[in-house]
Amino acid sequence: MAGGPGGATTEEREVVSVSGLSHAYASSGRTLLVLSELRLQVRAGSYIALTGDSGEGKSTLLALLGGLQRAQGGELIVAGQDLRRLPSQQMARFRSRTIGFVFQHHCLVESLTALENVGLAALINGLSRREALARARALLAQVGLLERAGHLPGRLSGGERQRVAVARAMVNRPALILADEPTGNLDERNAQRVMDLIEQLRHEYGATLLVVTHDSSLASRAATTLRLREGRLEAA
Ligand SMILES: Nc1ncnc2c1ncn2[C@@H]1O[C@H](COP(=O)(O)OP(=O)(O)OP(=O)(O)O)[C@@H](O)[C@H]1O
Ligand SMILES: [Mg+2]
Repeated sequence: MAGGPGGATTEEREVVSVSGLSHAYASSGRTLLVLSELRLQVRAGSYIALTGDSGEGKSTLLALLGGLQRAQGGELIVAGQDLRRLPSQQMARFRSRTIGFVFQHHCLVESLTALENVGLAALINGLSRREALARARALLAQVGLLERAGHLPGRLSGGERQRVAVARAMVNRPALILADEPTGNLDERNAQRVMDLIEQLRHEYGATLLVVTHDSSLASRAATTLRLREGRLEAA
């Protein structure tokens, strides 16, 4: 499907093309099969919510799609890259260029200011210091935090920290945003605000969004909701 001559159109339309994906963890001598022959096709520009009971493998799936973990079986093509065959040295570059991660915990560097946290992600992606800081400043303005740019994460509220994390996720204009319960630690009002920002920036940059959430009202914002159950995805 992807790769050879003539495959380009498919790759352009499908930002995620996964088939036969299996993944197991070994724990205390036993094997726990989490994903089993999973299939997922995501068209560029789509907005998908992913639900499922705790422990069904939602975070594992996101980690595999984003190249944070290596898949053990199946085919996994993300933004035209065959992740099963991508050498390790290129995986970090793939993540930095292509994926915007937002986790439940903000994962900001505590010793860096909001501006530096966002700018660092752009620097790692190869932008000059000047460009990186300019982009970081623009994004902080978009999430309404320009006046907090010089604050360390410890001096920001939970909602503000998560907005910085959203700005950081978007600074390299990723093709795919992978958000794992991005509002899980926030109250209703902040949850709505963070989701609004993710949606607004995704729209602006034309990114595809896959968001894991236990909150049915947030899931209902997505065009499609999929449920992970017994290692596979089904319509919710
Ligand atoms: N590194 C690991 N080693 C062993 N088992 C693991 C590891 N990571 C996850 N698991 C197990 O794999 C299963 C799926 O975990 P995962 O975190 O993907 O689930 P989840 O759907 O994201 O759950 P939650 O909704 O609670 O976040 C769980 O049973 C978990 O205990
Ligand atoms: Mg999880």
